[in-house]
Amino acid sequence: MEFLNFTHDQSAADLIATVYPTPPLAYVHSYGCQQNVSDGERIKGVLMDIGFGLCDKPDDADLILFNTCAVREHAEQRVFGNVGALKAIKEKKPSLIIGLCGCMANQQHVVDKIRKSYPYVDLVFGVDGIDTLPALLTQKLNQKKRILMEPAQRPVIVEQMPVRRESDFRAWLPIMYGCDNFCTYCIVPYVRGREKSRRPEDILAEFKQLVEAGYKEITLLGQNVNSYGKGLDEEIDFADLLNLLCAVPGDYQIRFMTSHPKDASYKLIDTIAAQPHLCKHLHLPVQCGSNRILTEMNRRYTVEKYLDLVEYARKRIPGITFSSDIIVGFPGETEEDFQGTLELVKKVGYMQLFTFIYSKRTGTKAALMEDPTPRKEKTDRMQRLLDTQDAIAMDLVKKQIGQTVRVLVEGYGRTEGTLSGRLDNNLTVEFAAEDCLIGNYAMVKLTGARATVLLGELDA
Ligand code: 5AD
Ligand code: SF4
Repeated sequence: MEFLNFTHDQSAADLIATVYPTPPLAYVHSYGCQQNVSDGERIKGVLMDIGFGLCDKPDDADLILFNTCAVREHAEQRVFGNVGALKAIKEKKPSLIIGLCGCMANQQHVVDKIRKSYPYVDLVFGVDGIDTLPALLTQKLNQKKRILMEPAQRPVIVEQMPVRRESDFRAWLPIMYGCDNFCTYCIVPYVRGREKSRRPEDILAEFKQLVEAGYKEITLLGQNVNSYGKGLDEEIDFADLLNLLCAVPGDYQIRFMTSHPKDASYKLIDTIAAQPHLCKHLHLPVQCGSNRILTEMNRRYTVEKYLDLVEYARKRIPGITFSSDIIVGFPGETEEDFQGTLELVKKVGYMQLFTFIYSKRTGTKAALMEDPTPRKEKTDRMQRLLDTQDAIAMDLVKKQIGQTVRVLVEGYGRTEGTLSGRLDNNLTVEFAAEDCLIGNYAMVKLTGARATVLLGELDA
């Protein structure tokens, strides 16, 4: 693994200043997961570093960049639909540069399709190419031809990239990139490449900057944070990294995602129990509650091992909540397998579920498996899962009523005059307060609930 430092590209900045009489504007839209949103913040930072301003309407832009997601087919179709809609804008403004990057851009069939069917897309580059954007734009502006990079993986981590963060109180902090797990349904290891961990000193430096800048919540990101440290020169695991960060003084909280159950350790749970900066919430995607399907998925844990972890965490960290991702309708999933999922969901009592109907991804192992279950049966299972989860979440929310808790105030509530805050355990509460509280902590008494949202009063 090679570690590089980002360097400012003055020649790209000079070229931009000559080509555009006033600073050009970029519209950058990120689809998909938090990792992608975090990449999008770096893309914006790199563009601003060479003289771009940002805009929030494609019509105003000189450069439109779609930072794409490939995890499900639906996400890809949306991107192609949105790229199609840009044709009209490009006809009105031929100097417009249109680019596509992120996970979709790391698939050969997508690059081929863009080359053939979307001639007005000027620029394609993959997830590892963000630091090369100034050079790619230079090439595009000088040669006036399309720059379509072929999918490639770079065993490189680029540090000190400029970042334009979307919030001034909540920050994403990537600690690793890629994934080595090859769950059989998942395209991520193919598009984001092999796992690579950032050096602890680089993470710590960025973390300290965030704390000093007044960030109240920092979310550590990785496809599988529990395998952090693999391949680094020094011996360090994820729990060690958490302890290193928590030693930084300040008024902040840390969240992290995603934890793979096969690598979540008692040591990690003991660390959460011991560190007040760590939120009492664990996103622990189980995917399915049938051991047979978990094996087919190559998840490398059993329902029993998963439940043991949950039980240990409940014992060590009173009040901890769990959330999860679940795939319904994996190839060959039977009604009995699905019943296993419902049972597990009830046993754990999640505060939130992210549920997905299985989507076939070309190039993955599961794409070759027989999938005889009709779509109608899958949507029916999904509805039963959602109904089960709704009842569980409402019950869990009701149990919180009566407590007074610290929340991070995130924005406006659904009802006029209210703000929305997030509890340490990741539940949300709405309460009447002045908007100057947004971005700060507040003490809130929990007085009621509307479905899965808590209602409360500011505690004077
Ligand atoms: N089909 C449906 N859901 C998927 N996920 C990943 N790949 C697929 C797929 N092919 C879900 C998993 C993962 C989440 C980020 O997306 O549940 O945890
Ligand atoms: Fe995909 Fe599995 Fe890696 Fe998550 S751990 S990104 S589901 S392969």
